[in-house]
Amino acid sequence: MIEKKWKELGYIDEPIPEGTDIKAEIRRMCKEKNAIIMAHYYTEGEIQDIADYIGDSLALAQKAAKTDADIIVMCGVHFMGETNKILCPDKVVLVPDLNATCSLAESCPANEFEAFVKAHPNHTVVSYVNTTAATKALTDVVVTSSNARQIVESFPKDTKIIFGPDKNLGNYINSITGRDMLLWNGACHVHEKFSLEKILQLKEEHPKAKILVHPECKGAVVKVADKVGSTAALLKYSISEEATEFIVATESGILHEMQKACPNKKFIPAPPEDSTCACNECNFMKLITMNKLYNCLKYEWPQVEVDRDVASRAIIPINKMLEISENLGL
Ligand code: 13P
Ligand code: SF4
Repeated sequence: MIEKKWKELGYIDEPIPEGTDIKAEIRRMCKEKNAIIMAHYYTEGEIQDIADYIGDSLALAQKAAKTDADIIVMCGVHFMGETNKILCPDKVVLVPDLNATCSLAESCPANEFEAFVKAHPNHTVVSYVNTTAATKALTDVVVTSSNARQIVESFPKDTKIIFGPDKNLGNYINSITGRDMLLWNGACHVHEKFSLEKILQLKEEHPKAKILVHPECKGAVVKVADKVGSTAALLKYSISEEATEFIVATESGILHEMQKACPNKKFIPAPPEDSTCACNECNFMKLITMNKLYNCLKYEWPQVEVDRDVASRAIIPINKMLEISENLGL
């Protein structure tokens, strides 16, 4: 029985009995219920450590499309759960806290995006995966930061393209492909905040450090990067590069996996401009806690639901992305 209070909260706040071995219980419930825990690199380290699978947005969608689990627990933000539910309509998809939204997805309400699309006929609509299902339903092809360049380049040069919602990623893709995509004016509240001055100051203190930047950052920050890429691409680069120091301009959760993979290398989080904090966190990703994960597995709630009509339209551009990515070996 799901209490009214929990429905209002969007998560279950039931205290866990003292003495419970939470990790062991989570693993036991996963086995008993044939559930898989997937986590994004921005979640807390302990969530990443207990997950069956961690990855960037593309890898998480690819994994969901192939899993034979009955329950997918998506430790990440709501649009990731929606993508999983659209790909696996017959499975139970759980997100431990429904308040885990995304400022980029929120910056592009479907009704406003629809008006924008209608105002610019004869354009191919490319949407970043950080969108709601309703916005994806208005889209021709979905992209992530792992495959945006290749997917945009798969269209003939003279194709007119609308790209939403991230103007920073859109500007970056325009700059490396020579396209002139029409951009929606959205941004991520975390990535927009990185301070170029503070990054350059860190570089002065660590002259040998390589600068890693997510393409959701502002153009001026992207310009000073040694490597621009998705979370998975930045992680891969930090492992394969000989350098031993890295300044990391993306959400600081990724440092957990970087440090685990490279215990002898130094990872320095890039700071935001308007705070004394050393690192930059996504408050939505950090809503996912061990207690909420435990309770959501126990009660199989909160479940992510997507309207059937919306899902039937949103699956088309998601599948198109997965198909192109597979053909390109991404
Ligand atoms: P990735 O696809 O690089 O993991 O990015 C997801 C995201 O939300 C970035 O802010
Ligand atoms: Fe959304 Fe930004 Fe958080 Fe990524 S870091 S989930 S884009 S709010």
